Amino acid sequence: MLISFEGGDGVGKSTQLGLLADRLVALGHEVVRTREPGGTPLGVELRNAVLHGEHVSPRTEALLYATDRAHHVDTVIRPALERGAVVLTDRYLDSSVAYQGNGRDLGADEVERLSLWATDGLLPELTVLLDLDPRVGLGRLTGAPDRLESAGLDFHVRTRQAFLDRAAADPARWLVVDAARDADAVHAEVAARVDGLLTQRAAAHHTPSPVSP
Ligand code: TYD
Repeated sequence: MLISFEGGDGVGKSTQLGLLADRLVALGHEVVRTREPGGTPLGVELRNAVLHGEHVSPRTEALLYATDRAHHVDTVIRPALERGAVVLTDRYLDSSVAYQGNGRDLGADEVERLSLWATDGLLPELTVLLDLDPRVGLGRLTGAPDRLESAGLDFHVRTRQAFLDRAAADPARWLVVDAARDADAVHAEVAARVDGLLTQRAAAHHTPSPVSP
């Protein structure tokens, strides 16, 4: 099972990912924690280039994220899914659609197609959107801002809306959580949805297959 965490900068994705990982490990699952950009050695170089390197155009930026994602899927995510692990990723394709497609104005559909090509169509079973006013999220960040974090409030307001619109269009894949609440309350909501998915999946595995005539 692949689960992605999405949302603006400073919404608490890594905290929530950690809480869910601990819970799933305690339930006996193999859990792979990963992130984009930078879930592989090549990805770490791409992350550095895209977040801290020389100025790049929006198209170059989109391609760098797509390259990171293609390699991440091929070398980390698919092999883990094939072993039966639960993969938790801090950002995935929807970040590209929101940040490059809407934030940078490249067009959501085009960026989505690029990412689906990069991943050969792999989508998460569940995407958790930690929704928070960007004024609050950006205010929580410490340290020097990276290229995306410095993109300005308008940019971050647009990406937040893009995430919300995508989630509303596909509620079967998305869970939208109000990330202004404390971490335990957010986690309880995420855990309930994941428990539901795991139960459904276990039931599907135990359904006897129809006897062939
Ligand atoms: P993230 O790892 O969440 O930042 P941090 O380490 O500061 O918590 O993501 C790095 C930045 O990259 C973030 O501002 C969002 C941006 N990003 C995109 O613009 N497109 C993408 O496809 C991805 C995965 C991230």
